[in-house]
Amino acid sequence: MTQNDDPAEFILPGLLYGGDYNPDQWAEEVWLEDVRLMQAAGVNCVSLAIFSWAKLEPQPGQYDFGWLDRVIDLLHAHGIRIFLATATASPPPWFSRQYPESLPVDGNGLRYKQGSRQHYCPNSESYREGAARLAGRMAQRYGSHPAVLMWHVNNEYACHVYECYCDRCRDTFRGWLQARYTTLDALNDAWGTDFWSQRYGQWAEIALPNRTLTFVNPSQMLDYRRFMNASILALFRGEIEAIRGAGAVQPLFTNMVYGIRWLDQFEWARYADYTALDSYPDPSLGEQAWQTVAFAYDVMRSAKRGKPFLLLEQATTQVNWRTINQLKPPGMMRTLSYQALARGADSVMFFQWRQSKAGAEKFHSAMVPHGGADGSRIFAEVSQLGAEIKRLSALLDTRVPAEVGLLYSFENVWALEIDSKPAHIEAQEAILPWHDALVTASLPVDIVHPDMDFSGYRVLIAPLLYQLTADQADRLRRFVQSGGTLVMSYFSGIADERDHLCQGGYPAFLREVLGLRVDEWQPLLPGQTARFQDCGGRLADALHWVDLLHLDGAELLAHYQGGFIDGRPAITRHRFGAGHAFYVGTRPEAAYLRDLLVGICVDNGIHRLLGAAPGVEASLRVGDGERYLFIINHLQTTQSVDLLGKRGIDLITQTQIGDRLLLEPYGVRLVRLQF
Ligand code: GAL
Repeated sequence: MTQNDDPAEFILPGLLYGGDYNPDQWAEEVWLEDVRLMQAAGVNCVSLAIFSWAKLEPQPGQYDFGWLDRVIDLLHAHGIRIFLATATASPPPWFSRQYPESLPVDGNGLRYKQGSRQHYCPNSESYREGAARLAGRMAQRYGSHPAVLMWHVNNEYACHVYECYCDRCRDTFRGWLQARYTTLDALNDAWGTDFWSQRYGQWAEIALPNRTLTFVNPSQMLDYRRFMNASILALFRGEIEAIRGAGAVQPLFTNMVYGIRWLDQFEWARYADYTALDSYPDPSLGEQAWQTVAFAYDVMRSAKRGKPFLLLEQATTQVNWRTINQLKPPGMMRTLSYQALARGADSVMFFQWRQSKAGAEKFHSAMVPHGGADGSRIFAEVSQLGAEIKRLSALLDTRVPAEVGLLYSFENVWALEIDSKPAHIEAQEAILPWHDALVTASLPVDIVHPDMDFSGYRVLIAPLLYQLTADQADRLRRFVQSGGTLVMSYFSGIADERDHLCQGGYPAFLREVLGLRVDEWQPLLPGQTARFQDCGGRLADALHWVDLLHLDGAELLAHYQGGFIDGRPAITRHRFGAGHAFYVGTRPEAAYLRDLLVGICVDNGIHRLLGAAPGVEASLRVGDGERYLFIINHLQTTQSVDLLGKRGIDLITQTQIGDRLLLEPYGVRLVRLQF
């Protein structure tokens, strides 16, 4: 391993393979079998001590590191590297008893109890100090242990507690608002408090946004989301300071829950050396399961501007926390693991190594099941994958190039999901089809925060970019003016960062760029569709929403048919400067949306990686003058795949791949392309 004082220059020793290891649930004899089996399965890294606070500090200020010393040395002796957790994810019972105010409070004002996990208020001083103290002790003791590869800080922040309504949070919120707005006049203005007689005369009058009779002030709610994100981020930063303060120099990360929208992952990524994801697609979605996690992988990679991320957790087969927990059929765990590598991961890891025999997750699958490794289908699949991954070290630190960016911000999601809108909007449900259209067409895409640099992208897609600041709009205008292509959807450019609606017609600030104006919209009922026809005569369904547009220079590409919207524009294009701005005033049905976006990409010289093949995912990783093409069949049937003239050697089977391929059910190829 190359380990420098500067984590930025750190390079992984190879692709990492392993999982969460909880030896504190087992007698020490079991550890010996664990390390032997780990070696047999190709495990080279484990995440250790994630929920071990009670074992490490059994009484306040009394530490017992003996067992952890022994297990770390044992792993080290067997060549297994460690992501050492700070062990702060779940405070022990004595802690909650000693600091009852550290327990969070729900929206009804009821305090949660200890007895599960993550029971801490994000603004609790005692939790913040206790966690930082333990993180510091861990770093002091193990900061120079050669087996410790990285620090795993806490675990899945905001998985359970992403808001708290205790008095401490209320007081801290007031302070946070004072720092943000300085004066009450500025706050009153930002929150539009002249509506419903909400004008504040003193900071002490401000309450948390819970238990209101009807809609809470939306600008206040948006600030509360920002405040909670900042409060939880402060916990992460507190642990980081403790680790660095103790002199530990290994890189660090914290693992995000897939699909979590309460933390601004672009902001969090600035403080972590690696982004890391826990990925749990639902196997019962069958052939669509993979599509539900592609977005989260693209966020992880994009949040650190293309740097490989860590797949920290996934299930070998079933979880235990859905209402019905189905198995991953044989082969599915492997394809989903390759999917993470394909989209930029440098590790494949699981929750957890050995299936627990007690506790709330005893029915959750693991790498070693209750029945033992011998004769286990799961262990056999785990070992086969471990052996394959060993041979793929060429992938290490390679990048996933993309010329299409999907504009996305967590603030926008928070703003979209605040109630009192024209319709209730589930942001992910509305935004993901736009990403899915690209992913299922094998077009690589980055997730781009609207404040990020747009250079390097030829096409930017803005689905439901409801919140758009003047500065972001200005940068988009310049992007189009200088030759870029923007595709903007309905309900975009509606509100500023205070959630104030822009005047003069939507999309605010971009009407001139798009050559149109929106002044009304019709959200559709569940199951209701509208119909539109394009200039080529193709008819398709319009879903979710219909904007009423007035053209002001834009060219009509498709119009509605039927009803009072008959003849009104559905899709438009406008030339602006050296570029083009498309507006799609609805969500076209999936096949149409895919063809539309593929067509726009092709016109911009961006081509799909494979010919159309439903259920087959493709992605490219590039580095050191080599290009590696992943081709993954997520279906349980053989697929014929057109490589569009590409050829090369498959690194998994060491066979030559021509420009057409028959891919077996759940088949994977990783082709080193010949130029
Ligand atoms: C994650 C968590 C793990 C385990 C796993 C079960 O949320 O980090 O500790 O609970 O899910 O799927």
